[in-house]
Formats: sequence, C-alpha cells, structure tokens
Amino acid sequence: MNHFLNFKLKIWRQKNNKEKGFFKTYKIQNVSPDSSFLEMLDILNNQIICNKKDTPISFDHDCREGICGMCSLYINGRAHGPEYLTTTCQLHMRSFRNGITIYIEPWRAFSFPIIKDLIVDRSSFDRIMISGGFISVNTFGKTIDGNIIPIPKNQSEKAFDASSCIGCGACVAVCKNRSAMLFVSAKVSQFSFLPQGIVERKKRVLNMVNRMEKEGFGSCTNTKSCEVECPKGISTEYISILNKEYINSFI
Ligand code: SF4
Ligand code: FES
Repeated sequence: MNHFLNFKLKIWRQKNNKEKGFFKTYKIQNVSPDSSFLEMLDILNNQIICNKKDTPISFDHDCREGICGMCSLYINGRAHGPEYLTTTCQLHMRSFRNGITIYIEPWRAFSFPIIKDLIVDRSSFDRIMISGGFISVNTFGKTIDGNIIPIPKNQSEKAFDASSCIGCGACVAVCKNRSAMLFVSAKVSQFSFLPQGIVERKKRVLNMVNRMEKEGFGSCTNTKSCEVECPKGISTEYISILNKEYINSFI
C-alpha cells in the first residue's frame, strides 16, 4: 500500500539575474511516492496558480526521461538529488523521507547565469559544442555504411560511453572550480575514438578548450566530484584523454 507523503519545500525564487534571490517556503501534502520530482513541482505549481497569491515556480525540463539534460536542479545540496546515476526527472518522491524539508536550488556557476528561479542559461555549453564544428566526411549520397567500418570494440565502447553525456551541467555545478572539463572531455572523446572524427581532431580540441576558457569555466584540480555526481557516470578518465588530445594538437 502506498502511503502519501508530506514535505516542506524551500525553493529558490529569483526574478532575474539582476535581482537578489531568496528561499521561499512551501508546504505540499499527499504526494504519491511514485510521482517524479518534477511531477511534484507540477502539482505545487497547480496549487500556486489556483491560490492566485504567487507566481508559479520556473524550472527547466523537456524529455523527462533522462535524455535532454534540461532538468538541472540542486536538491538538498546534491546535483540531481540523492540518487546516483539519476537525473532529476527520473528521481521519485519515494527517495525522500516523509515530513522532511527539501531545499531546491538552481545550478550556481558564473558561466550559467540565472534566468529565473530554478532556470539557468547553459548556452555556454552550446557555444563550446558549436566551436567544435562538424566532421567533414561525406554523410550523404555515395557513402560507406558506418556499420561496416571496422572499429575495435574497446574503442567503439569508449566512444559510446562518452556520447552518453547529456550536457546537463551537473559536473560544473558540483565542482569547486566550476570546471567544465568533464563535459568537454566527453564531447571531444566521443569523436576522437572514431575514424570519422580523425580529420578535424586537432582543430576540434583546440577550439573547444579555447571556447571553454573564454566562457569563464575554471580549471580541473582532480577533485573528481564531477564523476561522482554525473547522472550518466562519465568517468574522469576522459579528462586524461582530453589533456592528451590537447597536447597532441600542438605536435
Ligand atoms: S559530463 Fe555528466 S554531469 Fe557533465 S554535462 Fe555530461 S552528463 Fe552532465
Ligand atoms: S528532463 Fe530531460 S533529462 Fe531530465
């Protein structure tokens, strides 16, 4: 039998990037343990709209199935909440003890300015991706089927693991230096292990690292909190690969 849950919520409210933010307290009752964290926020917003005393809480989401990386929230001091390898949208309210207070905050990083409440601007990640550019191999017309190009299994697996980065930004938010090295290393590595990515290999890593620095992200000091909190389990091994790719780009 499912017992419904009650919580006190302390939610960060901030009109925009210029005004000061603050925690506002809300109470929510009779939450199903099977509802997701974002569904709980939906229910709260419905109540806020019906009461007409406050504006609904702004928060980001899209796929709600752990793919898009939009649902970026700090929950009780943990990026994406208390469960490992779980995005906020895949987190369920049964992960929280009945009656507790839950603090909900946006990512806090210079390069992710707050837009409103819990929404931050992560377009710095988009600009890093754009700086990496396209691959120049022909992908239409008379092309070789990608599946018949022999690639050693360990390489294709490494490329696949790197490509599971969803660009959520948790690695930046939990890093004391606000470094984006885990994200950039995943994006560089997913191409560097595949023959299609070889042609622009040097240019890609140089441009992405330069852009990362221009966007104001900090340096990596091997704290590895990014690896612990990454919802997709991206390993800091990829940061070593990024460093190797970067050094090789000057040779
Ligand atoms: S490396 Fe992990 S934490 Fe960082 S953006 Fe990618 S999925 Fe998110
Ligand atoms: S809403 Fe897409 S990953 Fe959470």
